[in-house]
Amino acid sequence: MVMVVRASITEIRETRERRRRRVGAHSHIHGLGLDEKGRAKPVAAGLVGQVEAREAAGIIVQMVREGKMAGRGILLVGPPGTGKTALAIAIAKELGEDTPFVAMSGSEIYSSDMKKTEVLMQAIRKAIGVRIKERRLVYEGMVKEIKFAFARHPFNPYVKVPRGARLTLKTADDELTISVGEEIAVQLLQLRVRRGDVIWIDAETGAVHKVGRAREAGRKYDVDIYRLVELPSGPVKKEKEIVHTLTLHDLDMSAMAQRAALTALLGLELVEREIPAEVRKQVDQQVMKLVEEGRAELVPGVLFIDDVHMLDIEAFSFLSRAMESELAPILVLATNRGMTKIRGTDIEAPHGIPLDLLDRLLIIKMKPYTRDELREIIRIRADEEEIPLTEEALEVLTDIAEQRSLRYAIQLMEPARIIAEREGRRKVTAEDVKRAASYFVDVRESVEYIKKFEERLLR
Ligand SMILES: Nc1ncnc2c1ncn2[C@@H]1O[C@H](COP(=O)(O)OP(=O)(O)OP(=O)(O)O)[C@@H](O)[C@H]1O
Ligand SMILES: [Mg+2]
Repeated sequence: MVMVVRASITEIRETRERRRRRVGAHSHIHGLGLDEKGRAKPVAAGLVGQVEAREAAGIIVQMVREGKMAGRGILLVGPPGTGKTALAIAIAKELGEDTPFVAMSGSEIYSSDMKKTEVLMQAIRKAIGVRIKERRLVYEGMVKEIKFAFARHPFNPYVKVPRGARLTLKTADDELTISVGEEIAVQLLQLRVRRGDVIWIDAETGAVHKVGRAREAGRKYDVDIYRLVELPSGPVKKEKEIVHTLTLHDLDMSAMAQRAALTALLGLELVEREIPAEVRKQVDQQVMKLVEEGRAELVPGVLFIDDVHMLDIEAFSFLSRAMESELAPILVLATNRGMTKIRGTDIEAPHGIPLDLLDRLLIIKMKPYTRDELREIIRIRADEEEIPLTEEALEVLTDIAEQRSLRYAIQLMEPARIIAEREGRRKVTAEDVKRAASYFVDVRESVEYIKKFEERLLR
């Protein structure tokens, strides 16, 4: 029996290794790659070149950290494939996990069955964090002894249900035995709390949290999914500061859930796709109160809107208004358009953005890449996608990136790899890339192709 299980475990591992990793288009980017003085290293953190833009972004990150960016925004401007989306992601990585980062494309507002402004509102509220600090009375320690008391199920005499439990918790300095009721006992069973586990129980709500296994208790099995943790110190019963970060949207949703529960209780049916303004107002008031009492902190995050010229006038004016509110995230917008009509109007404006919004934005210019930079980006991507290229293949791809587009060159890599694999080669050659390029054309070519037919039809 044991043998069978072992065999299947190694089998799983093998298939995992064989299967190729799925990688996102920007997975090679880890940050802005700046030194202590905020200077960009030519190639760092997965980013290549674009030195001024990265250094500018570094300044923005510092302004965000110092709380000087709320209600303002930046606009990344540059031709397709110059790394606007890449830079926005680098900013998010640099800000760290605790800072909410929401990414959307301008066209998303049309794709939902919600109102356009509601889509934006939800994105804005997802981009604002609320760090809530609470001091709670808890029992914390390593489980030294645990015993459950069972009773018969009231309706089914063959099933036993927990009635309560008695457990002894131990810290480096203290030891305490407590009895708990049915609800906590059920949680202890569900979490499979055993001797040697470090847990804490919220004295008010009765919520049980399993932290991990005490190092001194050691592992029960060789293979274990638990984290090993130190034995807590101090008394078992104590006040503990708990910090959790939620977003305003999370709070809106839980307020909505409460409302739904209430109306269900009253026998009313409530189908709301959109969150009513009064719910949000209530949430805001509660949050502001917590902030004033020093029990919560606002964490303005980043709302990234790619292809921002896809927004229409209604969305833009909503966005401008929202930026004025006390609770606003930092806007990071990106576009590859120059002078163009603001959607929904006949007015031409720079980047298709109304002037009142443009006025609030710091603009960062992305430069076209040099040949060496293009080659380096392709090299990094090939590495990330685990596609071995010969030097000649790399040169051909660089040619393609220069003459057509970087995006197109990157997209050809995987087809070229498959062509090479079918030929029994591990490394992708120049020929493989050329063949891939003959199978898959770029946009310019596909448009020309159709145009030729149209001309023939008109004749
Ligand atoms: N400076 C760079 N360093 C490393 N990788 C880059 C850099 N610039 C772009 N890339 C990579 O090249 C690809 C295309 O870049 P990206 O999507 O960021 O361009 P974009 O400016 O947003 O283009 P578009 O205007 O079409 O949206 C992505 O895989 C991106 O991660
Ligand atoms: Mg982009």
